[in-house]
Amino acid sequence: MNITLKINGIEHAIDTAPSVTLLAALRGLGFYGIKFGDEQGLSGSDTILLDGKPVNGGSMLAAQAEGHNIVTIEGLGEHPEQGWRKTEGLHPLQQAFVESGAIQCGYCTPAQILAAKALLDRNPNPSEDQVRDAIAGVLCRCTGYLKPVQAVLKAAAVMRGDEPVNWDSVNWDLGNWTDPPPANQPGSSPNEQFANLLTRPKVVVTPQTQTYQTVGKPEKKVDAIKLVQGKPAFTADMDMRGMLYARVLRSPHAHARIKNIDATKARDLKGVAAVLTWQDIPHVVYSTAGQSDPIPGPLDTFSLDNKVRFVGDRVAMVAAETPEIAEQALSLIEVEYEILPAILDSRESMKPEAIRIHDEPEFVNFADSNPEKNLAAEIRIDIGDVEKGFAEADEIFEAEYAVPKVQQAHIEPHVCVTYWDEDDRLVIRTSTQVPFHVRRMLAPVLNLPVKRIRVVKPRIGGGFGGKQEVLMEDVPAHLTIATRRPVIYEYTREEEFTGARSRHPMKVRMKTGVKRDGTITANSMYALSDTGAYGCHALTVTGNTGHKSMALYVGDGEYRKAPNIRFYADIVYTNTPPAGAFRGYGVPQGYWPLDRHMEKIARALNLDPIEFRLKNAIHPGEYHPFSTAWNEGREPRPEIIHTVGLEQCVAQGRAAIAWDDKYGNEEWRNSASNVKSQKSGATFDFRPSTKRKGIGVAMVMQGTAIPYLDMGGASIKMNDDGSFNLLVGATDLGTGSDTVLAQMAAEVLGVPLEDMITYSSDTDFTPFDKGAYASSTTYISGTAAVKAAEIVAERIRIRATMILGLPESEASSIRLSNRQAIAPDGRTVPFTEIALDSLHKNNQEQIMGVASYVSPVSPPPFAAQFAEVTVDMETGAVTVDRLVMAVDSGVIVNPLTASGQIEGGMTQALGYAVCEEMRYDENGNAIERDLDRYHIFRADEMPELETIFVETFEPSHPFGVKAVAEIPMDGVAPAVGNAILDAVGVNVDDNPTTPEKVWKELKNK
Ligand code: FES
Repeated sequence: MNITLKINGIEHAIDTAPSVTLLAALRGLGFYGIKFGDEQGLSGSDTILLDGKPVNGGSMLAAQAEGHNIVTIEGLGEHPEQGWRKTEGLHPLQQAFVESGAIQCGYCTPAQILAAKALLDRNPNPSEDQVRDAIAGVLCRCTGYLKPVQAVLKAAAVMRGDEPVNWDSVNWDLGNWTDPPPANQPGSSPNEQFANLLTRPKVVVTPQTQTYQTVGKPEKKVDAIKLVQGKPAFTADMDMRGMLYARVLRSPHAHARIKNIDATKARDLKGVAAVLTWQDIPHVVYSTAGQSDPIPGPLDTFSLDNKVRFVGDRVAMVAAETPEIAEQALSLIEVEYEILPAILDSRESMKPEAIRIHDEPEFVNFADSNPEKNLAAEIRIDIGDVEKGFAEADEIFEAEYAVPKVQQAHIEPHVCVTYWDEDDRLVIRTSTQVPFHVRRMLAPVLNLPVKRIRVVKPRIGGGFGGKQEVLMEDVPAHLTIATRRPVIYEYTREEEFTGARSRHPMKVRMKTGVKRDGTITANSMYALSDTGAYGCHALTVTGNTGHKSMALYVGDGEYRKAPNIRFYADIVYTNTPPAGAFRGYGVPQGYWPLDRHMEKIARALNLDPIEFRLKNAIHPGEYHPFSTAWNEGREPRPEIIHTVGLEQCVAQGRAAIAWDDKYGNEEWRNSASNVKSQKSGATFDFRPSTKRKGIGVAMVMQGTAIPYLDMGGASIKMNDDGSFNLLVGATDLGTGSDTVLAQMAAEVLGVPLEDMITYSSDTDFTPFDKGAYASSTTYISGTAAVKAAEIVAERIRIRATMILGLPESEASSIRLSNRQAIAPDGRTVPFTEIALDSLHKNNQEQIMGVASYVSPVSPPPFAAQFAEVTVDMETGAVTVDRLVMAVDSGVIVNPLTASGQIEGGMTQALGYAVCEEMRYDENGNAIERDLDRYHIFRADEMPELETIFVETFEPSHPFGVKAVAEIPMDGVAPAVGNAILDAVGVNVDDNPTTPEKVWKELKNK
């Protein structure tokens, strides 16, 4: 049918099928700012304005939009005509999003801005609540919404002509680092109107950072402009002539053998280019875990197999001219299954009579995996003598805990485009955290040499570990090989829930020996971890559960010198969707039982919960206890921890949340009223309150990269105008790593950030990097960038001596600053002159440097996480009112991006604490299959968030950095659990703390 769409004031006549959505039509016309997030419009990333109102373009037909005014992100600002203009031509909302650090992956950003625009068009002076309501329909998995709300308020002020609130600056604390903060210091807000609602990040800086020009400054992200304009930066924002659409037939059974499969009817359907079953492609066993070689886990997966091991496992793959034809073809594939008994519970999996899930002869063991016992991995770590420690204890505390299976739920689904290039090389353009692992690992699966594969990583719309998996690139790749045509494969939201990865659910048993004075004499954890149908990341995730939680508490006195710690784990197969990497990588599963256990012990022994934890926590100068015993299946290498800012974090955090006023204060606990609308104060209920407040703390540590293994590379070259290209194999999945790597290189080279043109990543052009995981990019890839910059800086200094007529031996005395080389006698040579001289005039050379880095250590970041809750004793409902996190992540390279990481991480962790869970019925069918049943926090549901960085200077890094990305996942859930205990005196030991569980415990009290 022929329709005309009026888009951003211009009419577009198109010929389209009646069933085509407005989302598809707009993207087909090149308006890529509208994004696919899910089929129901629940993610909101498909938001556009229709006659000024936000609507979901994926939920309406293109034909329904005829006769209406459509506004997309491309209609804001002036960028379509930007060309030779000197400004970016941004709308005030776009400008504010850039300046406020409101963009992480940027996938939701166009939709958030359009929703905000609709609000500001009708209400130029909105309250914070009105802003939150306006953008509540656009889910963001990265930011925690704080900075987007700040950005909208700022833009509103600018558009009104008012002086905007300065959200962009950081609340620097340049005082003596060792001075305690003032007691009960309130959250720092730059405006009374928003006091305690929108706080700026605070950075307690180390003296070493005060001389830096770029490092440590809240620089705008290098990729912010294109994202705020909705430019086609993401994997799916690419159209190719002759593109086919892939779909996968998935198993309806949890465990079955494929007796027969007949694809004849599907192949005969008009518009179908290929149907592939397990009989049509190489039967190569591999692991989908995106990790370095050799993969530290069993090889147990095939692109397609004659057996299915969970509901959602692959059965066949189709490529067709349209997505609709591909869907239709799936329904025509005839499959005869032999249904097998299914194991849906990890305890059942360990029983001797349990059916074997992996009986394929190709299975390749790693370490202690044993398919005969349904065991993907086994861990037995003993440090010291735990039994002796128990014998010496005055009290033994034992308890069992459970943590759920949860989803990464990045708003951009998994998506990949494959095609043959003109040299007959297979190009894989994919939203991945691990482009180099994708190339290496898929080569044998596709039966191609590595050199015939090129992996391109465009912008990633969030990953959180879910894209540390070589999860689905093989599907379009097989189909491109079969058809010789470009193929795009994009997961549906339901596939994300049924056919992607998740966090390992675990049942955890704790046993701890303690002296009456609070000295821990021995600490033991046993984890039964459920890897699902495949063993990707089974060993390493669960290893980290113990490695990075049980290491925090070593004991005190003689026990501190020789801690007694045990961590045992069995990681078993079940017929459920596989678990994998998820931000935190096993560590949140460790801190729920560990810290909840610590809280119970402190209360049972009548000890102050903060003092009890600090008494037993690790100190600087001590060995990481696990470094002497375990290294992800490799040789252990003992490692001393040099920087521990935990005590300072506690001091800052307890002051910010007013711990000393609230903890143990019965009057405060009872101060929660039955106010129905707390924020507006509109409706009051003066019945006796059924609500109680509580406050809780948790202390956590993480790691920074995997020592002796994780490697990052960087190359830098100088251009004619003295600017630089920084090429890195690292992958910025929204974290801001492109920006912080460029900041560090710019610092070394003495140039502003705008002179660093950063590109990541392409296996043909950028140096190797193991990818974005293990909180390693700033530390590992950042060191590589610094080293490459130092090589370039050295050449610049030498070229400067040549131009100035100085001996080369004086090169080291040349300072680089403000785009020039400065000699000790004050003479200067601009970089432009050095660049032109080196490229065109004298002793010509390309000034460039290539470097790589592997660390011998993994310095842990530390944090104190505080939570304040209100519990309704009638319903069990828990409202988290406030989260304060004080973090020692070493030196903070960019407080804006780093605080965004903490705010977003705390928000994900909040879901883990109170509502997120993936459950299955008795046949193994997922109950949560969309973003309605699987609830992630919206902008209007958020508690107050406050971030405090307590800097230490980590000596193993040139700029003193440690990791920041994963640690916010670790402490929120136990801090909330401890706060619930504080409020109403009940323990919920199974995470998440849903109203049902709290209510049940209250009834059993
Ligand atoms: S920035 Fe919102 S989803 Fe990533």
